[in-house]
Amino acid sequence: MNDQDDPRREDAMATVAEGATGVGRDEVWRCVACGADARMAEGGDALRCPSCGASYPVEDGVIVVRGEVDANNEVARAFYDGPLWPKFRFWEWYTFLCNGGERRSRDKVLRHLPAGENLRLLDVAVGDGVYLPWLPPSWSVVGVDVSRVQLRNCRGRVGGRDVRLVLGEAEDLPVRDRSFDACLSIGAFNYFNDPEKALREMARAVKPGGKIVISDEVPNLTDRLWFHKIGLPGLDRFFERLVTKNLGPEFTAMVERYKDMDVQAIGRGVLADVHYELIWMKMGYVMVGTAPA
Ligand SMILES: C[S@@+](CC[C@H](N)C(=O)[O-])C[C@H]1O[C@@H](n2cnc3c(N)ncnc32)[C@H](O)[C@@H]1O
Ligand SMILES: [Zn+2]
Repeated sequence: MNDQDDPRREDAMATVAEGATGVGRDEVWRCVACGADARMAEGGDALRCPSCGASYPVEDGVIVVRGEVDANNEVARAFYDGPLWPKFRFWEWYTFLCNGGERRSRDKVLRHLPAGENLRLLDVAVGDGVYLPWLPPSWSVVGVDVSRVQLRNCRGRVGGRDVRLVLGEAEDLPVRDRSFDACLSIGAFNYFNDPEKALREMARAVKPGGKIVISDEVPNLTDRLWFHKIGLPGLDRFFERLVTKNLGPEFTAMVERYKDMDVQAIGRGVLADVHYELIWMKMGYVMVGTAPA
């Protein structure tokens, strides 16, 4: 069935048109300065906090909660705002190709999301929204990311969906407690400034018992690539340089620093019922847990 003919899509568009119930309307926002409930201003040009007076402007359709970041988040921002990510994306495409194609590869992660219509999803590190078309059209989505360029590209994918985008950090989400049915975070968790804090934020934002689905490449991916098994140091270095060329020196150094990160331990410290699984020929992982009561 063509997406345009999908009746669920019509429902989603009706929700957006009515503007009464979808995420991105008044009921989900939280002020990152003081933690109080924030509200979208009448004209939709800013998010305002009646408690401390903070105002977060809407620029090009994106709510700007935090414009400047530091440490790892700044390395990520510079990379995803710059020219290297579109080139590096070749490796994502290549990985999917080796794993039975895009639909099959993405489904390894997305199948852990709950089923149902009209759910509210928080996408942390939404990037350019490449996953949006794979989600049910009736879902409302709030996407948070540190990269203006990625969020601008994401806007191009929104179509008639109920999606609101935020320039902000995973570690300090501008959303209220228990306001989402589920949370998704793909391709960023390993290098957040503070993955545990980010996970606590996701757990706070999701209703108790709601699913939190995290996926990224395994932290020690470069050690596991096939060329390391050849045992020829010259060839190793050649292929490693080929893979990391489009990552740039700062991102590559960051990847090296977190090779021993224990993602499961972080998950178990924050979430209930943690399930961890290697995917994409053990090049990636998906970790699924529920928000504690
Ligand atoms: C590989 S992309 C993944 C985008 C999308 N989830 C996908 O799977 O295609 C990683 C994204 O994480 C964002 N990011 C990195 N650190 C972040 C942080 N601390 N908070 C929010 N977004 C972050 C980057 O800007 C980038 O858009
Ligand atoms: Zn406030």
